[in-house]
Amino acid sequence: MNNGRRHSSLYCQYPSRRKFALSPVRIIFDLTVMFLYHLLFAYLLTIIECTPLPSPSSNLLRSLDLPVDETGATAFSILYGTPLTNFLQIAKSTLVYGESNILYSHNTTATASTRTVVRPNVDTVYAEAIFDLSATDVVLTLPAMEEDRFYLAAFFDPYGDNFASLGSVSSSAAGKYLLQSKNSSCVGYEGCITSPTAIGTLLFRVEVKNNNTDVAYVDSYLNNSTLTDINPHTPSHPALTVADFDNLSNTTAISVLQLTARFETRAVPETALFQAAVPVILALAGICNGSYSQPASVNITLATALANTSTSAFTDTPSSYPSLGNGWSILNSSYIGTYDSGMAIIPRALTATELYLGNTANEALYPTLGTTQLSLTDSEAYLFTFSGKPPVADDGFWSVTMYDNEGYLVSNPENKFAVGDRSNITFPNGELVYGSGTEDGTFQVLVQDANSNPPSNWTANWLPAPSGGSDFTVTFRLYAPTTEASDGSYVYPVVTKGAAILA
Ligand SMILES: *[C@@H]1O[C@H](CO)[C@@H](O)[C@H](O)[C@H]1NC(C)=O
Ligand SMILES: *[C@@H]1O[C@H](CO)[C@@H](O)[C@H](O)[C@H]1NC(C)=O
Ligand SMILES: *[C@@H]1O[C@H](CO)[C@@H](O)[C@H](O)[C@H]1NC(C)=O
Ligand SMILES: *[C@@H]1O[C@H](CO)[C@@H](O)[C@H](O)[C@H]1NC(C)=O
Ligand SMILES: *[C@@H]1O[C@H](CO)[C@@H](O)[C@H](O)[C@H]1NC(C)=O
Ligand SMILES: *[C@@H]1O[C@H](CO)[C@@H](O)[C@H](O)[C@H]1NC(C)=O
Ligand SMILES: *[C@@H]1O[C@H](CO)[C@@H](O)[C@H](O)[C@H]1NC(C)=O
Ligand SMILES: *[C@@H]1O[C@H](CO)[C@@H](O)[C@H](O)[C@H]1NC(C)=O
Ligand SMILES: *[C@@H]1O[C@H](CO)[C@@H](O)[C@H](O)[C@H]1NC(C)=O
Ligand SMILES: *[C@@H]1O[C@H](CO)[C@@H](O)[C@H](O)[C@H]1NC(C)=O
Ligand SMILES: *[C@@H]1O[C@H](CO)[C@@H](O)[C@H](O)[C@H]1NC(C)=O
Ligand SMILES: *[C@@H]1O[C@H](CO)[C@@H](O)[C@H](O)[C@H]1NC(C)=O
Repeated sequence: MNNGRRHSSLYCQYPSRRKFALSPVRIIFDLTVMFLYHLLFAYLLTIIECTPLPSPSSNLLRSLDLPVDETGATAFSILYGTPLTNFLQIAKSTLVYGESNILYSHNTTATASTRTVVRPNVDTVYAEAIFDLSATDVVLTLPAMEEDRFYLAAFFDPYGDNFASLGSVSSSAAGKYLLQSKNSSCVGYEGCITSPTAIGTLLFRVEVKNNNTDVAYVDSYLNNSTLTDINPHTPSHPALTVADFDNLSNTTAISVLQLTARFETRAVPETALFQAAVPVILALAGICNGSYSQPASVNITLATALANTSTSAFTDTPSSYPSLGNGWSILNSSYIGTYDSGMAIIPRALTATELYLGNTANEALYPTLGTTQLSLTDSEAYLFTFSGKPPVADDGFWSVTMYDNEGYLVSNPENKFAVGDRSNITFPNGELVYGSGTEDGTFQVLVQDANSNPPSNWTANWLPAPSGGSDFTVTFRLYAPTTEASDGSYVYPVVTKGAAILA
């Protein structure tokens, strides 16, 4: 008898939300209505106290070891909404340049002064658009791309779910693609994409080669990739603007709950499970009709701690991070880029903080080292001994990129932020790993203080680390990986710490 709608509307009808007009008749009328509301509400409260939540919702909370009450619902909502803070970052920086539905190109690869995203790659030029389909559909014009250059136009909902991709891995034909929020006729298009949410992000990446000497080609390609509004319709929601991100609380958890409330109707849950379970939980947490109000019984610190405990339980489960050998592991591929099961709100929240807008496993792999936080004195170095070339397709690439302890690129005299297939790295015998031949075999990457120059035969294989012994991390990326990268057949690099190799 008690379904999700009853719960949602129960909270949404809370009388304190009513506005009163100033006519005496109106006031008497409103007070009467308010009185009746209170009676009804008190009655319904006794029902809610005695009646369990509908089972999809209570089961979802229990599956995450959360209590089936307002505090558990708040913990759930914090996990659920966490990626929206990352959406906010991208939307804020993109929307200030104009509106949604415009592709904004960065025109260059990231440098040590880049602060817009954490852990940027230096392999691709990024371009992004916030799409808003509430009043129009959008046409993406995808120009023809030359052979063997990785490019990816990936579509994400605000929670970071990669619901569609075009590009080299999917061998997309050049042409016009229709992006819409409802399925309709696809005649006249190369393809059509239906977005599960009215708003989201299009993130375009195009590989740069030859020490950035080809950036002009990449910029021209991105400049030719355009978005055009088409099929105007009656708006389902007001247009998204930067003002939608105003007035957020300084308390992170509360700002997440506020964002979740604001985007509840524009970014509805994607799956049937979520559609059945999530609205009831959000309502129980105090998220209603676009805004958040904290239920009196809820202690936000406690709810945040519960959310953290669920997250730790997930990260401590071995199957969440299958091992690739030699200390490398990877977030379970069913949890990167696609989040379609109940448990997935935890990896979704985790990847949002670490790797928002990460791609699905066929597009990219991001293996991590067990001990992610590395550090060196100026007399030490790490050697990454590769068993052979990382397995990527002809249009793929790989890199190991250096970040400081805040996740930014490390400035160094060489302006070198990554080492990979385009770095002129050599085998120990001095021959190019990516020369004209097809030789393969072991080679080494040297991670050493940016101010401690190695002998010249190491220069190409050298990844400069921060000077002065501060902590750092590296990210290994494989774009367009082949199956050997994750089926256990490729032996991942052995990482050892030893003495610095000095010129
Ligand atoms: C929800 O908000 C809309 C627009 O502000 C308002 O018209 C409506 O009455 C509200 N509904 C409830 C149940 O509070
Ligand atoms: C990238 O180039 C385009 C076209 O020249 C220009 O409009 C845009 O402002 C540039 N973006 C940045 C970040 O410089
Ligand atoms: C649109 O059509 C596709 C393929 O026919 C289907 O899988 C999808 O569920 C439909 N989406 C909507 C929103 O109707
Ligand atoms: C690799 O070598 C080529 C040819 O000497 C040079 O043009 C290119 O800039 C080098 N790339 C890097 C990253 O040093
Ligand atoms: C590669 O580009 C960087 C930055 O422009 C430059 O400092 C470096 O000298 C270049 N390396 C080669 C080998 O051309
Ligand atoms: C972009 O379009 C211009 C004009 O049509 C064309 O000359 C140029 O080759 C295109 N650039 C790329 C990378 O396709
Ligand atoms: C970008 O493309 C437009 C036409 O679509 C062209 O007018 C403009 O010159 C191009 N800008 C650059 C920097 O290539
Ligand atoms: C932010 O606060 C201002 C002033 O109270 C208000 O006009 C505006 O609507 C608020 N914006 C949001 C998104 O809540
Ligand atoms: C958030 O913090 C800033 C700076 O500390 C302060 O100016 C602002 O009033 C605070 N906002 C809220 C909503 O507490
Ligand atoms: C909220 O919960 C935290 C953590 O359990 C606790 O330390 C704190 O005393 C609680 N605050 C209130 C007001 O109950
Ligand atoms: C939850 O985890 C985050 C990130 O690790 C941390 O910043 C925060 O302090 C934790 N909060 C609680 C209440 O444990
Ligand atoms: C550089 O030369 C030394 C001595 O021949 C050799 O041991 C080392 O492997 C070489 N390094 C690279 C990256 O080729």
